[in-house]
Amino acid sequence: MEINANLNPEQIIRLEKICDEEFSKNSETKTFRFKKLEKGIYLPTFDLINLYNTVKNLKFKDKTSIIDLGSGDGRIVFLFLLMGHYATGLEYNKHLCKLSDHIIKPRLISEGFDVKKARFKQGDFLNEDFSEYDIIYFFPGDFNNYKKLEDKLIKTMKDNSFFLVYGQKHPFERLRPGSLWQRLTGYKEGKIMAYRK
Ligand SMILES: C[S@@+](CC[C@H](N)C(=O)[O-])C[C@H]1O[C@@H](n2cnc3c(N)ncnc32)[C@H](O)[C@@H]1O
Repeated sequence: MEINANLNPEQIIRLEKICDEEFSKNSETKTFRFKKLEKGIYLPTFDLINLYNTVKNLKFKDKTSIIDLGSGDGRIVFLFLLMGHYATGLEYNKHLCKLSDHIIKPRLISEGFDVKKARFKQGDFLNEDFSEYDIIYFFPGDFNNYKKLEDKLIKTMKDNSFFLVYGQKHPFERLRPGSLWQRLTGYKEGKIMAYRK
């Protein structure tokens, strides 16, 4: 599988638009965003183009396997898949799982996006074994069980995998921060950090 380093920015903007539209049409209220769900707030990663450029610059090899921890409406999974990676989303909230897999995915396919291989699972990422993934992506929102997540990553993540974390505060104590510390536009304090074990 070849990495699609030339994904068109217009395709990425269209992807975000479709996700936003289907979210608004299919969620009880627009305030579902920021609302406290069973495991934390739902808020999508802002500005996928910046994330795309960051990941592209990491120059991952072919056939990279990626998981989004708490995949929300699935936009990160779709983005990584369109870049040519294998992508899985793991989300606890059943409504968001269905929205990504049964509503947004078919809509994207109907509009010509090749996202058939997007894989979504419902469950708690704190119970996940991360050994099959090369990149683990995480946008924490108001997540606060960092100690447990860090233990799990140290135990199960491969030595050469990256743990990419979006957002401002990352109170990890044992994971090693990488050189990538990039300020993203479109979100006032948006940053992405690449940790290694
Ligand atoms: C801030 S949102 C990020 C959504 C998506 N990753 C993105 O970047 O667009 C956090 C998501 O993680 C989910 N979540 C939080 N804790 C979780 C857990 N322990 N297991 C599975 N999902 C979880 C929430 O339900 C929410 O949808």
